[in-house]
Amino acid sequence: MCGIVGYVGRQTAAPILLEGLRRLEYRGYDSAGVAVLSGSEMQLRKKKGKIDEGLAKSLQAQPLAGQLGIGHTRWATHGPPSDENSHPHLDQSGRMAVVHNGVIENFDRIKERLMEAGHTFRSATDTEVLAHLIGDHYEKLKGDQSEASVRLTQAVLSALREVIGTYGIAVVCTDAPGIIVGARRGSPLIVGLGQNENFLASDVNAVVAHTQQVVYLNDYDVVTMTADRFDVASLGADTAKVQISQVEFSPEAAERGKFPHFMLKEIFEQPATVRNALRGRIDSDEATAKFGGLNMSMAELREVDQIVLTACGTSWHAALVGEYLLEDFAHIPVEVEYASEFRYRHAPLEKHTLVVAITQSGETADTLAGLREAKRRGHKALAICNVVGSTIAREADGGIYLHAGPEIGVASTKAFTSQVTVLTLFALLMGRLRMLPVRRGMEIIRALEAGPGQLESILQQNERIKRIAQKYARAQNFFFLGRQHGFPVALEGALKLKEISYIHAEGYPAAEMKHGPIALIDPNTPSVVLIPSDSMYEKTLSNLEVVRARNGPVIAIATEGNATIAKQADDVIYVPPTLEPIFPLLAVVPLQLLAYHVAIERGCDVDKPRNLAKSVTVE
Ligand code: M6R
Repeated sequence: MCGIVGYVGRQTAAPILLEGLRRLEYRGYDSAGVAVLSGSEMQLRKKKGKIDEGLAKSLQAQPLAGQLGIGHTRWATHGPPSDENSHPHLDQSGRMAVVHNGVIENFDRIKERLMEAGHTFRSATDTEVLAHLIGDHYEKLKGDQSEASVRLTQAVLSALREVIGTYGIAVVCTDAPGIIVGARRGSPLIVGLGQNENFLASDVNAVVAHTQQVVYLNDYDVVTMTADRFDVASLGADTAKVQISQVEFSPEAAERGKFPHFMLKEIFEQPATVRNALRGRIDSDEATAKFGGLNMSMAELREVDQIVLTACGTSWHAALVGEYLLEDFAHIPVEVEYASEFRYRHAPLEKHTLVVAITQSGETADTLAGLREAKRRGHKALAICNVVGSTIAREADGGIYLHAGPEIGVASTKAFTSQVTVLTLFALLMGRLRMLPVRRGMEIIRALEAGPGQLESILQQNERIKRIAQKYARAQNFFFLGRQHGFPVALEGALKLKEISYIHAEGYPAAEMKHGPIALIDPNTPSVVLIPSDSMYEKTLSNLEVVRARNGPVIAIATEGNATIAKQADDVIYVPPTLEPIFPLLAVVPLQLLAYHVAIERGCDVDKPRNLAKSVTVE
């Protein structure tokens, strides 16, 4: 949801900014721009469209000199994608430039006031208003005898005190050509620490090729950065707490490598990422799971009498898998809440309700708000999160990291299987604290341990799945049907297909079809039916037959060894046999590959699907 980057050092800034923006492009790709200072000259370049279509070409044709600059890749909120609405935005004087990730909610009122004072605006954005506001405060400090760099930081601090909303910003000014000022509230921002150079970015991906040392800024922090030092002040009451952290992944982990798309790379990483999610967390002696960071005693976990799982998108589907697992293994009542609803709903919670926020990025605005709401109401709030040092990871009372490495494809894949793995372990722990027998605990552990190898065998069917995808790629509607543990996978399969191929797809409980949606079945509407050889097999088979009886094509996701299904479905993709509750971990992978190949066949840009951004840091 917009990516920002800043560089100050001894090297030419523009290529570093461009490279950083490319690594942040998953956050938004409606337009991109940079502002580079050369001496006291402000050089601005901004273009509508993806980085390589606009900004990169422009910088190649006319390179920019200068060793300090800021850049931005945009996911439009205020004003459509256009050159004018692209960031950076200048203040009234033209000497100050600002990039911004977030939403300034009271921008209209501020804009009116500034217009009355003679300001003119070129864009429809809230960010330009913020740039003018900072510029206005800076002008008012002019009588002050302090240096321009001090005044710039002061102007940012005082302007932000007027602002309602969320922001991660970077500001440069020609009067102070050696500094960048950054600030955050609700949108992520990190400082990358180099030798005679420093970086500012929305996330570590943008800087990891240059430095492994970072500072995760907190909300209300305002950082002033030169090539040799950085100082952090706080807009809040507290003094800023600064901690230098080491990035836990290598620069190569954020590269596409031999794969044509990040999404495909991340699908193929799943045997390894599931292994990482399991590593060190299995206690075979006690047939249970163990976690380092829950920050809850076994007695406290034993007391939990309700669990709320809150999340958005794919993480919400993982939460739904978690609901089935926790209820099955631990018999604890579970509510799965869309974070955007939970944050405003006055859902009655039990005294010992545990709230678990599930999120890949750890920055999703709604999920963060849900977590804060749970804490405000005095509940323990844990996070299941991938990005180390993210806001949700830091604000939770405790949690479980996925250790899946950076997920760059906008369509979430490996995060889902890691979330499901971790939720299975957590449900196992909660079950073993209650009445789940040792024997069942060991069966679950063995099934989980077999998971990575089984995922490898599913991935070997890639070419076959591609052929099936090509056969159905022109369909305009799809159904995904599943029952019990298969139902959340059906929802996830439908989401994957619609977000990257733009085909309308619906996920449904297989038996619910007959209550209305079946009216939509016709020979051009394929249904992907999740039909493992489990306790629901016969019932799911009747649901499948009902679709076939209306001439609807069926792609079955079935268990290896089920030869008869080939007669009842038009196409079959097999997954290895496993326990019923472990089925989602395996079954989602063919659906990810199906969506990927359908999207490729339709000529879609799978890593940058239209209208989307990876990390949704606005409401
Ligand atoms: O980072 P999060 O897991 O909190 O993100 C939640 C959703 O925005 C995300 O899963 C989204 O739905 C993906 N595009 C799905 O592929």
